[in-house]
Amino acid sequence: LETKKRLPVIWRHFQECTCCTESFTRTQHPLATDIILNMISLDYDEVLMAAAGHQAEETARKVMEENKGNYILAVEGAIPTNDGGIYCCLGGRSALDVLKEEAKHAKAIIAWGSCAVNGCVQAAHPNPTGAVPVQKIITDKPIVNVPGCPPIAEVMAGVITHVLTFERLPELDSQGRPKAFYGHRIHDKCNRRAYFDAGMFVESFDDQGSKEGWCLYKMGCKGPNTYNSCSNLQWNGGLSYPIKSGHPCIGCSETGFWDNNGGQSMY
Ligand code: SF4
Ligand code: SF4
Ligand code: F3S
Repeated sequence: LETKKRLPVIWRHFQECTCCTESFTRTQHPLATDIILNMISLDYDEVLMAAAGHQAEETARKVMEENKGNYILAVEGAIPTNDGGIYCCLGGRSALDVLKEEAKHAKAIIAWGSCAVNGCVQAAHPNPTGAVPVQKIITDKPIVNVPGCPPIAEVMAGVITHVLTFERLPELDSQGRPKAFYGHRIHDKCNRRAYFDAGMFVESFDDQGSKEGWCLYKMGCKGPNTYNSCSNLQWNGGLSYPIKSGHPCIGCSETGFWDNNGGQSMY
């Protein structure tokens, strides 16, 4: 990979919290520094780049114009559409305009996180800014949806390394998610599954079952209908994941997250 021409990437941040990038920077296999310094040419990313303001926007324009059809547009965040998209502006332009222009010349788009994939908290009822995910606006380009709030660092790194290694997008499921990372149901590989099968459930967060690590289903766990790599790859380099740490899965990678899953009060 290190001998290949580095793939230009424009990584946009729209209506979001930036924690998808926070997650990405912690990937250990491969290290984020290896990806950024040796594998891709991360030409624009307002969170990680040194340039700012007009200089940064000029860089994005230059990269787009010099690499038409050959760069990856990575998008973090939802896109507000109400009132002409004024609720998220960058360099004097709306996120809506920026996305449309940069998507037009991109080779493919990677939508990072539940904001970019299904709208996440921004699109939760009553959705005052009219936030929508990338796939609602861009319909004529290949899009890899990488949901999760945020996605697992190694999943993000895995998507990038797959594109670089095989020079094509990973195999996707019907929701545009890489099958390799979203083909597993949390429940099927959960470390508490034996307790579920035995009917041993935590009834409150400080009960004895909670201390013993019993199943969190009755505490609202969404693991039975959430597809993600948390219970097999785990987080922080394979160290743990929400359920292992004592909290139910809130279905952060599923469509409708917030309105249908974690956003509703489970306490
Ligand atoms: Fe933040 Fe979650 Fe949106 Fe990622 S998907 S930017 S972690 S709110
Ligand atoms: Fe399934 Fe959640 Fe119980 Fe794990 S904690 S076995 S994912 S219901
Ligand atoms: Fe999200 Fe559930 Fe994993 S809340 S981080 S999909 S365990």
